[in-house]
Amino acid sequence: MRLRDRVCIVTGGGSGIGLATVRRLAAEGAITVSLDIDAGSAPAAALSLACDVTDDAQVAHAFDEVVARFGRVDVAVVNAGIALEVPLLDTTPEQWSRVIGVNLTGAFHTARHAVRRMLPDGGALVFHASMSGLVATADEPAYCASKAGVIGLSRAIAVDYASHGIRSNCVCPGVVDTPMTRQQFAGHERFRDLVERAHPLSRFALPEEIAAASAFLASDDAAFVTGTELVVDGGYTAR
Ligand SMILES: NC(=O)c1ccc[n+]([C@@H]2O[C@H](COP(=O)([O-])OP(=O)(O)OC[C@H]3O[C@@H](n4cnc5c(N)ncnc54)[C@H](O)[C@@H]3O)[C@@H](O)[C@H]2O)c1
Repeated sequence: MRLRDRVCIVTGGGSGIGLATVRRLAAEGAITVSLDIDAGSAPAAALSLACDVTDDAQVAHAFDEVVARFGRVDVAVVNAGIALEVPLLDTTPEQWSRVIGVNLTGAFHTARHAVRRMLPDGGALVFHASMSGLVATADEPAYCASKAGVIGLSRAIAVDYASHGIRSNCVCPGVVDTPMTRQQFAGHERFRDLVERAHPLSRFALPEEIAAASAFLASDDAAFVTGTELVVDGGYTAR
């Protein structure tokens, strides 16, 4: 119950890692709010709001609604994201803009409204970046760039707002078994096996294993942890 009565917003809380995070934070006593483009998709959350994180006005409105209802924001898990597995020469400017728009600009919108709400009493931001922000994963230049950008954003916030009691950290998962990756690997079972074995633990992560890392970073157990990346990748980047 490390998060008893804390108001925790999770973007993309309707599926995969975000959904597991909503459940984990709720199990630790939090009042959870999911902001997801897919409205009503997070039954585990105390409140589920339709919100496209690429639209700053929608994010602002959602934060207003959370504060009107629960009085404050203590934690924001910046999770909403999309994948794109297309090599550089085939990536169109539209695809690039879409990936950067959701993964990086969406994170900026969420972080900005979260930090504004946390200024009086402090709080914790947890970004779901990726190991792809630390090392290059094949044929994902837009995705890698977006996640490296998220890591930079998180560190900048950590430095600039530490004096306000606001911590900011990233979780960098390896491949996680979610609807996103099931779709990516569908019909490519041999490739899936290869990628699984590239993780020294020889499997993909469970969404709950990422949620556990996020709950730690959101909690007071991580009171002296800010501006860093917690890599949860089964050893992938250590190889
Ligand atoms: N699955 C992996 O292997 C993996 C690895 C590393 C990092 N990540 C990151 O973790 C996060 C979650 O991934 P996942 O695998 O659970 O994905 P997912 O596709 O299962 O879930 C993503 C959620 O985000 C929501 N979403 C998408 N675009 C949105 C938008 N514009 N506004 C609001 N909500 C939006 C979707 O509706 C969905 O509920 C992403 O940021 C992803 O990049 C995933």
